[in-house]
Amino acid sequence: MTDLVRVGLLGCGNVGAALVRVLDTNADLIRRRAGVKIEVTRVAVHNLAKERDVALAPGVLTNDADAVVSDHDVDLVVEVIGGVEPARSLILTALKAHKPVVTANKELLANFGGELFEAAETAGVDLLFEASVAGGIPLMRPLRESLAGERIRRVMGIVNGTTNYVLTRMTEEGSTFAEAVAEAQALGYAERDPTADVEGFDAAAKAAIIATIAFGARVVGGDVYREGITHVTADDIAAAAELGYGVKLLAVADERDGRVGARVHPAMVPVDHPLASVRGSYNAVFIEGETVGQLMLLGRGAGGGPTASAVLGDLIDAAKNLHAGARGATIGALTRKPIQPIDETASQFYVSLDVVDRPGVLAAIAGVFGKHNVSIQSMQQKGQGEGARLIFVTHLAREAALTATIHEVRDLDVVASVGSVLRVIGGEE
Ligand SMILES: NC(=O)c1ccc[n+]([C@@H]2O[C@H](COP(=O)([O-])OP(=O)(O)OC[C@H]3O[C@@H](n4cnc5c(N)ncnc54)[C@H](OP(=O)(O)O)[C@@H]3O)[C@@H](O)[C@H]2O)c1
Repeated sequence: MTDLVRVGLLGCGNVGAALVRVLDTNADLIRRRAGVKIEVTRVAVHNLAKERDVALAPGVLTNDADAVVSDHDVDLVVEVIGGVEPARSLILTALKAHKPVVTANKELLANFGGELFEAAETAGVDLLFEASVAGGIPLMRPLRESLAGERIRRVMGIVNGTTNYVLTRMTEEGSTFAEAVAEAQALGYAERDPTADVEGFDAAAKAAIIATIAFGARVVGGDVYREGITHVTADDIAAAAELGYGVKLLAVADERDGRVGARVHPAMVPVDHPLASVRGSYNAVFIEGETVGQLMLLGRGAGGGPTASAVLGDLIDAAKNLHAGARGATIGALTRKPIQPIDETASQFYVSLDVVDRPGVLAAIAGVFGKHNVSIQSMQQKGQGEGARLIFVTHLAREAALTATIHEVRDLDVVASVGSVLRVIGGEE
Protein backbone atom coordinates (compact mmCIF):
# COMPACT_ATOMS: atom_id res chain seq x y z
CA MET A 1 0.00 0.00 0.00
CA THR A 2 1.20 3.51 -0.81
CA ASP A 3 1.47 6.27 1.77
CA LEU A 4 -1.70 7.85 0.48
CA VAL A 5 -5.32 7.37 1.53
CA ARG A 6 -7.71 8.75 -1.09
CA VAL A 7 -10.97 10.07 0.29
CA GLY A 8 -14.29 10.30 -1.50
CA LEU A 9 -16.27 13.06 0.22
CA LEU A 10 -20.05 12.89 -0.10
CA GLY A 11 -21.42 16.37 0.59
CA CYS A 12 -19.59 19.69 0.77
CA GLY A 13 -21.93 21.84 2.85
CA ASN A 14 -21.26 23.20 6.35
CA VAL A 15 -19.40 20.14 7.57
CA GLY A 16 -17.89 18.91 4.30
CA ALA A 17 -16.44 22.30 3.39
CA ALA A 18 -15.04 22.80 6.92
CA LEU A 19 -13.42 19.37 6.64
CA VAL A 20 -11.79 20.21 3.31
CA ARG A 21 -10.46 23.45 4.81
CA VAL A 22 -8.98 21.91 7.95
CA LEU A 23 -7.43 19.05 5.95
CA ASP A 24 -5.67 21.71 3.94
CA THR A 25 -4.72 24.01 6.84
CA ASN A 26 -3.44 21.22 9.08
CA ALA A 27 -2.03 19.03 6.30
CA ASP A 28 1.44 18.54 7.86
CA LEU A 29 0.15 17.88 11.36
CA ILE A 30 -2.44 15.42 10.03
CA ARG A 31 0.11 13.60 7.93
CA ARG A 32 2.40 13.23 10.97
CA ARG A 33 -0.39 11.98 13.20
CA ALA A 34 -1.97 9.68 10.66
CA GLY A 35 1.36 8.37 9.40
CA VAL A 36 -0.13 8.60 5.95
CA LYS A 37 -1.17 11.37 3.56
CA ILE A 38 -4.92 11.92 3.43
CA GLU A 39 -6.18 13.49 0.24
CA VAL A 40 -9.72 14.29 -0.82
CA THR A 41 -9.73 13.11 -4.42
CA ARG A 42 -13.47 13.18 -5.24
CA VAL A 43 -16.27 15.33 -3.82
CA ALA A 44 -19.96 14.77 -4.54
CA VAL A 45 -22.49 17.58 -4.18
CA HIS A 46 -26.05 18.14 -5.26
CA ASN A 47 -25.69 21.39 -7.16
CA LEU A 48 -22.53 21.83 -9.24
CA ALA A 49 -23.35 25.45 -9.99
CA LYS A 50 -23.25 26.55 -6.33
CA GLU A 51 -20.42 28.87 -5.25
CA ARG A 52 -18.13 27.14 -2.73
CA ASP A 53 -15.63 28.63 -0.38
CA VAL A 54 -13.20 25.73 -0.73
CA ALA A 55 -10.23 25.16 -2.99
CA LEU A 56 -10.74 21.97 -4.99
CA ALA A 57 -8.67 20.84 -7.94
CA PRO A 58 -10.50 20.80 -11.29
CA GLY A 59 -12.41 17.59 -11.87
CA VAL A 60 -12.72 16.73 -8.17
CA LEU A 61 -16.31 17.97 -7.86
CA THR A 62 -19.16 15.91 -9.27
CA ASN A 63 -22.89 15.52 -8.74
CA ASP A 64 -22.68 11.76 -9.16
CA ALA A 65 -22.26 10.40 -5.63
CA ASP A 66 -22.49 6.75 -6.81
CA ALA A 67 -19.52 7.29 -9.08
CA VAL A 68 -17.48 8.62 -6.14
CA VAL A 69 -18.25 5.60 -3.97
CA SER A 70 -17.42 3.10 -6.69
CA ASP A 71 -14.36 4.94 -7.99
CA HIS A 72 -11.34 2.59 -7.81
CA ASP A 73 -9.26 5.60 -6.84
CA VAL A 74 -11.30 6.18 -3.67
CA ASP A 75 -10.09 4.16 -0.66
CA LEU A 76 -12.32 5.63 2.04
CA VAL A 77 -15.69 7.39 2.06
CA VAL A 78 -16.83 10.32 4.23
CA GLU A 79 -20.59 10.87 4.19
CA VAL A 80 -21.78 14.35 5.16
CA ILE A 81 -24.86 14.64 2.97
CA GLY A 82 -27.33 13.92 5.78
CA GLY A 83 -30.80 12.33 5.69
CA VAL A 84 -31.60 8.70 5.01
CA GLU A 85 -31.41 8.33 1.23
CA PRO A 86 -29.20 8.37 -0.75
CA ALA A 87 -26.80 8.35 2.25
CA ARG A 88 -27.84 4.85 3.37
CA SER A 89 -27.41 3.22 -0.05
CA LEU A 90 -24.13 5.02 -0.66
CA ILE A 91 -22.68 3.87 2.67
CA LEU A 92 -23.83 0.29 2.13
CA THR A 93 -22.23 0.27 -1.32
CA ALA A 94 -18.97 1.61 0.10
CA LEU A 95 -18.90 -0.95 2.90
CA LYS A 96 -19.64 -3.83 0.51
CA ALA A 97 -16.67 -2.64 -1.53
CA HIS A 98 -14.58 -2.91 1.69
CA LYS A 99 -14.13 0.84 1.93
CA PRO A 100 -14.16 2.26 5.47
CA VAL A 101 -16.82 4.91 6.07
CA VAL A 102 -16.95 7.96 8.31
CA THR A 103 -20.34 9.59 8.76
CA ALA A 104 -21.92 12.42 10.79
CA ASN A 105 -25.45 11.29 10.01
CA LYS A 106 -27.52 10.89 13.20
CA GLU A 107 -30.83 10.45 11.41
CA LEU A 108 -29.46 7.52 9.41
CA LEU A 109 -27.70 5.85 12.35
CA ALA A 110 -30.69 6.26 14.65
CA ASN A 111 -32.93 4.45 12.18
CA PHE A 112 -30.68 2.12 10.20
CA GLY A 113 -27.64 1.80 12.47
CA GLY A 114 -28.12 -1.96 12.92
CA GLU A 115 -28.04 -2.60 9.19
CA LEU A 116 -24.97 -0.40 8.71
CA PHE A 117 -23.04 -1.89 11.65
CA GLU A 118 -23.74 -5.38 10.31
CA ALA A 119 -22.54 -4.42 6.85
CA ALA A 120 -19.32 -3.01 8.34
CA GLU A 121 -18.89 -6.17 10.41
CA THR A 122 -19.40 -8.40 7.36
CA ALA A 123 -16.95 -6.37 5.29
CA GLY A 124 -14.45 -6.14 8.18
CA VAL A 125 -13.98 -2.39 7.75
CA ASP A 126 -14.42 0.66 9.97
CA LEU A 127 -17.68 2.54 10.22
CA LEU A 128 -17.05 5.57 12.43
CA PHE A 129 -19.64 8.14 13.47
CA GLU A 130 -18.25 10.36 16.24
CA ALA A 131 -19.80 13.52 14.78
CA SER A 132 -23.32 12.07 14.78
CA VAL A 133 -23.88 12.88 18.46
CA ALA A 134 -22.93 16.16 20.13
CA GLY A 135 -20.88 17.45 17.16
CA GLY A 136 -17.39 18.38 18.32
CA ILE A 137 -17.58 16.61 21.69
CA PRO A 138 -15.72 13.30 21.73
CA LEU A 139 -18.37 10.90 23.00
CA MET A 140 -18.64 7.80 20.82
CA ARG A 141 -14.94 6.97 21.12
CA PRO A 142 -14.82 7.53 24.92
CA LEU A 143 -17.91 5.31 25.29
CA ARG A 144 -16.57 2.62 22.95
CA GLU A 145 -12.91 2.68 23.95
CA SER A 146 -11.98 4.57 27.13
CA LEU A 147 -15.07 3.26 28.94
CA ALA A 148 -15.09 -0.14 27.24
CA GLY A 149 -14.76 -1.95 30.58
CA GLU A 150 -17.27 0.21 32.35
CA ARG A 151 -20.79 -0.74 33.29
CA ILE A 152 -22.58 2.45 32.31
CA ARG A 153 -25.61 3.25 34.44
CA ARG A 154 -26.91 6.36 32.82
CA VAL A 155 -25.99 8.96 30.23
CA MET A 156 -27.73 12.34 30.35
CA GLY A 157 -27.00 14.82 27.63
CA ILE A 158 -27.76 18.32 26.53
CA VAL A 159 -27.33 17.34 22.91
CA ASN A 160 -29.24 20.05 21.08
CA GLY A 161 -27.66 23.50 21.04
CA THR A 162 -30.73 25.27 19.68
CA THR A 163 -32.99 24.27 22.55
CA ASN A 164 -30.28 24.94 25.10
CA TYR A 165 -29.86 28.42 23.66
CA VAL A 166 -33.63 29.01 23.78
CA LEU A 167 -33.92 27.79 27.39
CA THR A 168 -30.88 29.86 28.41
CA ARG A 169 -32.42 33.04 26.98
CA MET A 170 -35.73 32.28 28.68
CA THR A 171 -33.85 31.79 31.96
CA GLU A 172 -31.44 34.68 31.81
CA GLU A 173 -33.47 37.31 29.94
CA GLY A 174 -36.99 36.25 30.85
CA SER A 175 -37.75 35.92 27.10
CA THR A 176 -40.83 34.07 25.98
CA PHE A 177 -40.36 30.85 24.05
CA ALA A 178 -41.31 32.59 20.77
CA GLU A 179 -38.87 35.48 21.38
CA ALA A 180 -36.03 33.13 22.22
CA VAL A 181 -36.67 30.98 19.12
CA ALA A 182 -36.73 34.11 16.91
CA GLU A 183 -33.40 35.17 18.39
CA ALA A 184 -31.90 31.72 17.81
CA GLN A 185 -33.07 31.90 14.19
CA ALA A 186 -31.53 35.36 13.73
CA LEU A 187 -28.20 34.02 15.02
CA GLY A 188 -28.34 30.96 12.76
CA TYR A 189 -28.72 28.52 15.69
CA ALA A 190 -32.23 27.54 14.68
CA GLU A 191 -33.65 26.54 11.30
CA ARG A 192 -36.47 28.54 9.77
CA ASP A 193 -38.66 25.56 10.72
CA PRO A 194 -37.35 24.75 14.22
CA THR A 195 -39.59 21.68 14.73
CA ALA A 196 -36.81 19.07 14.66
CA ASP A 197 -35.04 20.87 17.49
CA VAL A 198 -37.82 22.25 19.69
CA GLU A 199 -39.95 19.10 19.49
CA GLY A 200 -36.95 16.96 20.46
CA PHE A 201 -36.65 14.90 17.23
CA ASP A 202 -32.96 15.74 16.80
CA ALA A 203 -32.18 14.91 20.43
CA ALA A 204 -34.20 11.67 20.18
CA ALA A 205 -32.06 10.44 17.28
CA LYS A 206 -28.97 11.15 19.38
CA ALA A 207 -30.49 9.45 22.42
CA ALA A 208 -31.01 6.31 20.31
CA ILE A 209 -27.37 6.31 19.22
CA ILE A 210 -26.13 6.95 22.77
CA ALA A 211 -28.27 4.11 24.16
CA THR A 212 -27.06 1.78 21.40
CA ILE A 213 -23.40 2.45 22.09
CA ALA A 214 -23.57 2.76 25.88
CA PHE A 215 -25.58 -0.43 26.38
CA GLY A 216 -24.72 -2.52 23.31
CA ALA A 217 -28.41 -2.69 22.52
CA ARG A 218 -30.17 -2.01 19.30
CA VAL A 219 -32.20 1.11 20.03
CA VAL A 220 -33.86 3.03 17.20
CA GLY A 221 -35.35 6.51 17.06
CA GLY A 222 -38.87 5.11 17.43
CA ASP A 223 -37.94 3.51 20.77
CA VAL A 224 -37.18 6.89 22.31
CA TYR A 225 -39.87 8.64 24.34
CA ARG A 226 -39.91 12.23 23.12
CA GLU A 227 -41.23 15.48 24.49
CA GLY A 228 -39.99 18.88 23.30
CA ILE A 229 -39.79 22.28 24.98
CA THR A 230 -42.70 24.07 23.29
CA HIS A 231 -44.86 23.79 26.41
CA VAL A 232 -42.22 25.16 28.79
CA THR A 233 -43.12 28.69 29.86
CA ALA A 234 -41.09 31.56 31.28
CA ASP A 235 -43.20 31.14 34.45
CA ASP A 236 -42.07 27.50 34.79
CA ILE A 237 -38.47 28.55 34.39
CA ALA A 238 -38.85 31.29 37.01
CA ALA A 239 -40.60 28.89 39.42
CA ALA A 240 -37.88 26.28 38.83
CA ALA A 241 -35.20 28.87 39.59
CA GLU A 242 -36.91 29.77 42.87
CA LEU A 243 -36.88 26.09 43.79
CA GLY A 244 -33.15 25.81 42.95
CA TYR A 245 -33.38 24.26 39.49
CA GLY A 246 -32.56 25.10 35.90
CA VAL A 247 -34.68 23.76 33.02
CA LYS A 248 -32.84 21.75 30.35
CA LEU A 249 -33.87 19.54 27.46
CA LEU A 250 -32.23 16.22 28.29
CA ALA A 251 -31.56 13.09 26.27
CA VAL A 252 -31.41 10.30 28.83
CA ALA A 253 -30.30 6.71 28.28
CA ASP A 254 -30.10 4.22 31.12
CA GLU A 255 -30.17 0.53 31.82
CA ARG A 256 -32.12 -1.02 34.67
CA ASP A 257 -32.69 -4.72 35.28
CA GLY A 258 -31.66 -5.58 31.73
CA ARG A 259 -34.03 -3.05 30.21
CA VAL A 260 -32.84 -0.02 28.31
CA GLY A 261 -34.53 3.35 28.69
CA ALA A 262 -34.13 6.15 26.16
CA ARG A 263 -36.05 9.39 26.44
CA VAL A 264 -35.94 13.07 25.60
CA HIS A 265 -37.81 15.61 27.67
CA PRO A 266 -37.36 18.91 29.43
CA ALA A 267 -36.27 18.43 33.02
CA MET A 268 -35.52 20.47 36.10
CA VAL A 269 -31.84 20.04 36.94
CA PRO A 270 -30.55 21.11 40.38
CA VAL A 271 -28.46 24.28 40.00
CA ASP A 272 -25.45 22.57 41.55
CA HIS A 273 -25.53 19.74 38.99
CA PRO A 274 -22.81 20.16 36.31
CA LEU A 275 -25.42 20.06 33.53
CA ALA A 276 -27.20 23.12 34.96
CA SER A 277 -24.22 25.34 34.17
CA VAL A 278 -24.19 24.48 30.46
CA ARG A 279 -25.33 27.72 28.84
CA GLY A 280 -26.22 28.99 25.39
CA SER A 281 -25.67 26.71 22.43
CA TYR A 282 -23.16 24.51 24.24
CA ASN A 283 -23.73 20.77 24.58
CA ALA A 284 -22.63 18.48 27.40
CA VAL A 285 -22.91 14.83 28.21
CA PHE A 286 -22.92 13.56 31.79
CA ILE A 287 -22.01 9.89 32.19
CA GLU A 288 -22.48 7.75 35.28
CA GLY A 289 -20.59 4.47 35.43
CA GLU A 290 -20.27 1.85 38.13
CA THR A 291 -16.48 2.14 38.46
CA VAL A 292 -15.63 5.53 36.98
CA GLY A 293 -18.36 7.40 38.87
CA GLN A 294 -19.53 10.60 37.26
CA LEU A 295 -17.89 12.44 34.40
CA MET A 296 -18.93 15.19 32.03
CA LEU A 297 -17.87 16.18 28.53
CA LEU A 298 -18.64 19.72 27.37
CA GLY A 299 -18.26 21.53 24.07
CA ARG A 300 -19.74 22.68 20.80
CA GLY A 301 -22.40 20.26 19.64
CA ALA A 302 -22.83 21.74 16.18
CA GLY A 303 -21.34 24.07 13.61
CA GLY A 304 -19.21 23.22 10.60
CA GLY A 305 -15.86 23.52 12.40
CA PRO A 306 -16.58 21.52 15.58
CA THR A 307 -18.39 18.82 13.60
CA ALA A 308 -15.60 18.63 11.02
CA SER A 309 -13.12 18.22 13.89
CA ALA A 310 -14.98 15.07 15.01
CA VAL A 311 -15.20 13.80 11.42
CA LEU A 312 -11.49 14.42 10.99
CA GLY A 313 -10.59 12.47 14.13
CA ASP A 314 -12.52 9.51 12.72
CA LEU A 315 -10.98 10.00 9.29
CA ILE A 316 -7.44 9.91 10.69
CA ASP A 317 -8.28 6.82 12.70
CA ALA A 318 -9.82 5.03 9.73
CA ALA A 319 -6.96 6.07 7.43
CA LYS A 320 -4.38 4.80 9.95
CA ASN A 321 -6.20 1.49 10.26
CA LEU A 322 -6.59 1.13 6.52
CA HIS A 323 -2.91 1.84 5.99
CA ALA A 324 -1.99 -0.73 8.64
CA GLY A 325 -4.38 -3.28 7.11
CA ALA A 326 -6.15 -3.31 10.47
CA ARG A 327 -9.49 -2.33 11.86
CA GLY A 328 -10.37 -0.13 14.83
CA ALA A 329 -12.44 -1.08 17.86
CA THR A 330 -15.82 -2.38 16.78
CA ILE A 331 -19.03 -1.81 18.68
CA GLY A 332 -19.38 -5.58 19.07
CA ALA A 333 -22.56 -7.55 18.68
CA LEU A 334 -25.68 -5.57 19.46
CA THR A 335 -28.32 -7.44 21.39
CA ARG A 336 -32.04 -6.83 21.44
CA LYS A 337 -32.73 -5.68 24.98
CA PRO A 338 -36.25 -4.83 26.03
CA ILE A 339 -37.02 -1.12 26.04
CA GLN A 340 -38.35 0.29 29.28
CA PRO A 341 -41.71 1.98 28.60
CA ILE A 342 -41.85 5.56 29.89
CA ASP A 343 -44.85 4.64 32.07
CA GLU A 344 -42.65 2.33 34.13
CA THR A 345 -39.94 4.90 34.82
CA ALA A 346 -39.93 6.88 38.06
CA SER A 347 -39.00 10.45 38.76
CA GLN A 348 -39.84 13.41 40.91
CA PHE A 349 -42.25 15.77 39.18
CA TYR A 350 -42.99 19.46 39.13
CA VAL A 351 -46.69 20.17 38.54
CA SER A 352 -48.25 23.61 38.18
CA LEU A 353 -52.02 23.99 38.47
CA ASP A 354 -54.19 27.06 38.01
CA VAL A 355 -56.94 26.85 40.58
CA VAL A 356 -60.16 28.65 41.40
CA ASP A 357 -60.74 30.59 44.61
CA ARG A 358 -62.84 28.16 46.63
CA PRO A 359 -62.48 26.52 50.04
CA GLY A 360 -61.17 22.95 50.02
CA VAL A 361 -58.97 23.37 46.95
CA LEU A 362 -55.88 21.92 48.53
CA ALA A 363 -57.66 19.03 50.19
CA ALA A 364 -59.31 18.04 46.91
CA ILE A 365 -56.03 18.11 44.98
CA ALA A 366 -54.01 16.40 47.72
CA GLY A 367 -56.68 13.71 47.84
CA VAL A 368 -56.14 12.83 44.18
CA PHE A 369 -52.36 12.75 44.56
CA GLY A 370 -52.75 10.50 47.60
CA LYS A 371 -55.18 8.18 45.85
CA HIS A 372 -52.52 7.43 43.21
CA ASN A 373 -49.70 7.10 45.75
CA VAL A 374 -47.95 10.23 44.53
CA SER A 375 -46.62 11.93 47.63
CA ILE A 376 -46.04 15.66 47.68
CA GLN A 377 -42.64 16.95 48.73
CA SER A 378 -43.43 20.66 48.58
CA MET A 379 -46.20 23.04 47.58
CA GLN A 380 -46.11 26.75 46.83
CA GLN A 381 -48.89 29.16 46.07
CA LYS A 382 -48.43 31.99 43.57
CA GLY A 383 -51.04 34.75 43.59
CA GLN A 384 -54.36 34.93 45.40
CA GLY A 385 -57.99 34.40 44.58
CA GLU A 386 -58.99 33.66 40.97
CA GLY A 387 -55.86 33.05 38.97
CA ALA A 388 -53.94 31.55 41.89
CA ARG A 389 -51.40 28.96 40.88
CA LEU A 390 -50.25 26.01 42.95
CA ILE A 391 -46.86 24.51 42.32
CA PHE A 392 -46.17 21.02 43.57
CA VAL A 393 -42.97 19.02 43.63
CA THR A 394 -43.59 15.34 44.25
CA HIS A 395 -41.41 12.71 45.81
CA LEU A 396 -40.29 9.89 43.54
CA ALA A 397 -43.34 8.60 41.65
CA ARG A 398 -44.07 6.22 38.81
CA GLU A 399 -44.77 7.97 35.54
CA ALA A 400 -48.03 6.00 35.15
CA ALA A 401 -49.21 7.10 38.61
CA LEU A 402 -48.40 10.72 37.87
CA THR A 403 -50.23 10.55 34.53
CA ALA A 404 -53.31 9.09 36.22
CA THR A 405 -53.11 11.83 38.87
CA ILE A 406 -52.98 14.58 36.28
CA HIS A 407 -55.94 13.14 34.37
CA GLU A 408 -58.04 13.12 37.49
CA VAL A 409 -56.87 16.48 38.83
CA ARG A 410 -57.75 18.09 35.49
CA ASP A 411 -61.40 17.13 36.03
CA LEU A 412 -61.67 18.66 39.51
CA ASP A 413 -64.02 21.66 39.75
CA VAL A 414 -61.39 23.57 41.71
CA VAL A 415 -58.75 23.21 38.97
CA ALA A 416 -59.06 25.75 36.15
CA SER A 417 -56.21 24.23 34.16
CA VAL A 418 -53.13 22.08 34.44
CA GLY A 419 -50.06 24.14 33.58
CA SER A 420 -46.81 22.30 33.14
CA VAL A 421 -45.60 18.91 34.26
CA LEU A 422 -41.82 18.59 34.30
CA ARG A 423 -39.58 15.76 35.48
CA VAL A 424 -37.12 16.68 38.20
CA ILE A 425 -33.60 15.25 38.12
CA GLY A 426 -32.17 14.19 41.45
CA GLY A 427 -34.62 11.88 43.09
CA GLU A 428 -34.34 8.89 40.75
CA GLU A 429 -34.33 5.33 42.07
N1 LIG B 1 -23.99 21.33 10.60
C1 LIG B 1 -23.84 20.87 11.83
O1 LIG B 1 -23.65 21.63 12.77
C2 LIG B 1 -23.87 19.38 12.08
C3 LIG B 1 -23.60 18.91 13.38
C4 LIG B 1 -23.59 17.53 13.62
C5 LIG B 1 -23.88 16.67 12.57
N2 LIG B 1 -24.17 17.17 11.35
C6 LIG B 1 -24.50 16.21 10.29
O2 LIG B 1 -23.58 16.36 9.22
C7 LIG B 1 -24.23 16.07 7.99
C8 LIG B 1 -24.05 17.24 7.03
O3 LIG B 1 -24.57 18.41 7.60
P1 LIG B 1 -24.33 19.85 6.95
O4 LIG B 1 -24.78 20.85 7.94
O5 LIG B 1 -22.95 19.94 6.39
O6 LIG B 1 -25.39 19.80 5.73
P2 LIG B 1 -25.48 20.79 4.49
O7 LIG B 1 -24.77 22.06 4.76
O8 LIG B 1 -26.90 20.82 4.08
O9 LIG B 1 -24.65 20.01 3.35
C9 LIG B 1 -25.13 18.87 2.71
C10 LIG B 1 -24.25 18.61 1.49
O10 LIG B 1 -24.70 17.42 0.84
C11 LIG B 1 -24.84 17.69 -0.55
N3 LIG B 1 -25.87 16.82 -1.11
C12 LIG B 1 -27.20 16.81 -0.85
N4 LIG B 1 -27.80 15.82 -1.55
C13 LIG B 1 -26.83 15.22 -2.26
C14 LIG B 1 -26.80 14.14 -3.19
N5 LIG B 1 -27.92 13.50 -3.53
N6 LIG B 1 -25.62 13.78 -3.73
C15 LIG B 1 -24.48 14.44 -3.41
N7 LIG B 1 -24.44 15.46 -2.54
C16 LIG B 1 -25.59 15.85 -1.97
C17 LIG B 1 -25.19 19.15 -0.64
O11 LIG B 1 -24.87 19.61 -1.94
P3 LIG B 1 -25.00 21.17 -2.35
O12 LIG B 1 -23.88 21.86 -1.61
O13 LIG B 1 -24.80 21.17 -3.82
O14 LIG B 1 -26.36 21.61 -1.91
C18 LIG B 1 -24.30 19.73 0.46
O15 LIG B 1 -23.01 19.97 -0.05
C19 LIG B 1 -25.70 15.76 8.35
O16 LIG B 1 -25.86 14.38 8.52
C20 LIG B 1 -25.86 16.46 9.69
O17 LIG B 1 -26.87 15.88 10.49
C21 LIG B 1 -24.16 18.50 11.07
